[in-house]
Amino acid sequence: MSLGMLTPRNQRPIKSGILLALAISGYIALAFWAQATLTQSDAAASNETGYLPSISDFMIETIQPRHVRLWVAARSGDWPFAAYELGNLKGAFDRLGRAHPMEHEIPLQDLISGLTAPSFEDLNKAIQSKDATAFAKAYSDLTAACNACHQATNHGVVVIRAPTDSSISDQDFVRAAP
Ligand code: HEC
Repeated sequence: MSLGMLTPRNQRPIKSGILLALAISGYIALAFWAQATLTQSDAAASNETGYLPSISDFMIETIQPRHVRLWVAARSGDWPFAAYELGNLKGAFDRLGRAHPMEHEIPLQDLISGLTAPSFEDLNKAIQSKDATAFAKAYSDLTAACNACHQATNHGVVVIRAPTDSSISDQDFVRAAP
């Protein structure tokens, strides 16, 4: 619409039309704002406990069991399951690094990638080629990386080794081949 159309006679209705439009869009904006505020406060409410798992929580809940399960998978020759657990173990380390990038001046995130990345790559190759010998070597390197970090972070009391037997009893690891 050109301004030339705004003759003195029709200026008024157009102006009030604009005002009405502004009022409506203002109302819509307000509704969106209210909605957004509500969503934010919902999110804040659900996060009110402020629970952030500690490094040891991550270790014992998300990392240690998957280290065991990865071994069980390979021992059963179940390569698809090993690939699945390897992905989950890597994901657990990634989340740990994001949650605790620094710990008492120690760059945990950098330590994680520096120490675990080479073994993860070798494990992945071994699993893809279904090579049990290469897997055993890469798994032992990963376990050494667990212990290297425990030493580096003054937690040498936590010593990890390859499992000697499956201690997880509620999962059928001898499932039918997919
Ligand atoms: C980047 C460093 C790092 C790596 C890699 C690492 N850990 Fe840890 N881990 C820690 C630290 C730090 C602690 C002590 C946390 C604390 O108590 O505050 C710990 C503690 C633990 C604990 C004891 C938890 C408890 O509550 O008793 C277990 C079990 C553990 N790690 C398993 C592993 C396994 C298995 C691996 C390898 C697959 C591994 N960790 C790799 C840093 C690491």
